[in-house]
Amino acid sequence: MNRREFIASAAVAGAGLLVLPSGVRGGEAAPSNKLNIALIGVWGRGLAHYRSLADENVVALCDVNEKRFPDALAKFPGAKTYVDWRKCLDQKGLDAVVCCTADHTHAFVSNWALNRNLHVYQEKPLAITCEEARVVRANWMKKKAKLATQVGMQRHAIPNFNRVREMVRDGAIGDLTAAYAWGDRQIRRPGYLPAEGQPPADFHYDLWLGPSPEHPYNPGYFSGGAGANCLQWNMYWDFGAGQIGDMGSHTMDLLWNAVDATLPTTAEAKGEAFNPDVTPVTCESHFDHPANDWRGPIRVSWYQGGAMPASPKPYVDLKKIGHGAMFKGSKGHVVCDFDSRILLPFGSEADLTYYKPRTKDKVLPDIGHFQKQWLDACRNPSLKTACDFEYSGNMIEQLLLGLVAYRVGKKLNYDGATGKVTNCPEANEFLSRKYRAGWTING
Ligand SMILES: NC(=O)c1ccc[n+]([C@@H]2O[C@H](COP(=O)([O-])OP(=O)(O)OC[C@H]3O[C@@H](n4cnc5c(N)ncnc54)[C@H](O)[C@@H]3O)[C@@H](O)[C@H]2O)c1
Repeated sequence: MNRREFIASAAVAGAGLLVLPSGVRGGEAAPSNKLNIALIGVWGRGLAHYRSLADENVVALCDVNEKRFPDALAKFPGAKTYVDWRKCLDQKGLDAVVCCTADHTHAFVSNWALNRNLHVYQEKPLAITCEEARVVRANWMKKKAKLATQVGMQRHAIPNFNRVREMVRDGAIGDLTAAYAWGDRQIRRPGYLPAEGQPPADFHYDLWLGPSPEHPYNPGYFSGGAGANCLQWNMYWDFGAGQIGDMGSHTMDLLWNAVDATLPTTAEAKGEAFNPDVTPVTCESHFDHPANDWRGPIRVSWYQGGAMPASPKPYVDLKKIGHGAMFKGSKGHVVCDFDSRILLPFGSEADLTYYKPRTKDKVLPDIGHFQKQWLDACRNPSLKTACDFEYSGNMIEQLLLGLVAYRVGKKLNYDGATGKVTNCPEANEFLSRKYRAGWTING
């Protein structure tokens, strides 16, 4: 039995012991049961993972900024350091990777890690093009029996996510017909920053650019505080997916968790004038989804940067909810944010007799600590994670298709089986992007 198999068998044997009285799975890993983890992107969002990784063996640290190593090494002494994640992933004996790099490298790191049979926790968004989402999802689907994945949409662990799901699923609003999510963050950038100065000697700017086209160095891309520096680069097409990769990932997750959708059959979008450098601030996109086994067809909508769905009643001011979602059914609406919800029945039939709230023993269980959920699944991949690469891949592919529809300004028919737009050939070129020479997503 090799070390990986031993960890898995120890986890299964001890599965009962890993359930804490509070229902939170996890707890401290036994020494023999620790995972060997590479943390890629050690500062910023990486810092948020230090606590949940403290019980594991963090054996590799990777960052393009060497200045970040001393603090990370103080926390994880003995780890090897790397500036190039491709070399880091080849370290012998790794079990798992936590990736907190810039968005334009996410699908790459995830895919390379899966190719090396490593479990992956990928900070959101999983990808910045539809094709990237498809490649990574398909790769994981082949290996899902033995590898655990999670995309960093940690708000998913807030119990309100499941309370919203239960209301929609159990018929509080009758038959679901439409769902809307919105986010009002507005970060306006005129265009890529002009050349300014030289990268510091210990900052590997060329590796930061990675697969994306060359853009001159400007310290402005790196001027944000810890965990918020992503706002300095994520609005640019070559480095991110704008609002969609930012708060859109969290907010669409609130909706996605309640509708059991996969890929849309259509996408249409409108927004502010197209800027070849910068993703739109104000934009709305709409998607048709086929029926599933518990509901009819639905329309899913995403609004950003000030665009908003209409409120069901003038006294409900949706604009007071910065990042929220709304579900429309034949008998009412549910309006929610991340941690609260309201039910608004409508029509003379809406007497709620058709709605049977769950008894206490039937409510969906809390998922507990979001990062721990993934760590537990790394030890025992038969455990499900809430935001695996299938769930999250479908979600982000849908949102990214909306950006394609925005770029071409046409309603698109989408074939989810092949990942092709069938009625607008020019749209297909925006489903993927060109990588710099020397970079492949499938290494
Ligand atoms: N889940 C959340 O709530 C949440 C919150 C903030 C950020 N994020 C996500 O985390 C990621 C990082 O955001 P941030 O604000 O920390 O950004 P950041 O620019 O501060 O980068 C984080 C760290 O990664 C390093 N890095 C960047 N590219 C790298 C590469 N190719 N190889 C190795 N190291 C690299 C940086 O030097 C830095 O130390 C983003 O994708 C963002 O969407 C998620």
